[in-house]
Amino acid sequence: MNYNSLEELQRACADCQACPLGKTRTKSVFGTGDVRAELMFVGEAPGEQEDLSGVPFVGRAGQLLDKFLYAVDIPREKVYIANILKCRPPKNRDPLPAEEEACIGYLREQVRLIRPKVIVCLGRIAAMRLIKPDFKITQEHGQWFERGGYRMTAVYHPAALLRDPRKKEDMLEDMKRIRNILDEGKESAEP
Ligand code: URA
Repeated sequence: MNYNSLEELQRACADCQACPLGKTRTKSVFGTGDVRAELMFVGEAPGEQEDLSGVPFVGRAGQLLDKFLYAVDIPREKVYIANILKCRPPKNRDPLPAEEEACIGYLREQVRLIRPKVIVCLGRIAAMRLIKPDFKITQEHGQWFERGGYRMTAVYHPAALLRDPRKKEDMLEDMKRIRNILDEGKESAEP
């Protein structure tokens, strides 16, 4: 179904019962940020803090994501952040294929309405869904793909960086490259 605005889409998502997670969630976590963002991040699914607040990436992983955005001088309020699943799976287990299927239409509509220049998958689950089913995050993070007219890449999920801080160096390099891609063509356009 096509929606006319993100607000309309968000209202539909707030009451969604398309899969059993509708019964166990506290709040659905639609997405947040600049509706005209050039850069969109897509994570996996809300965690505990997100389920309570209704806002994506506000827990420990989200705070680490904020640090990387700050490091490459991208204000969080200038990007848009969403997830593959809008509701928290019990005990943060991986999304089930049927849950992704029931939910993916919301993300498709978000992308259609926002039209970002670049989409960045946060972690393996989002990359497998949006880039290719056999995506290998350790080998393929930071590589660039084109899907449906969008430039796409994947970086480590911030929760993976909390578990293994040695990955932070790669994350910084990938984030710098994302920054450069966004800047492409901008300098020459300035007077
Ligand atoms: N992890 C995710 O993938 N998404 C969130 O919103 C929070 C944690």
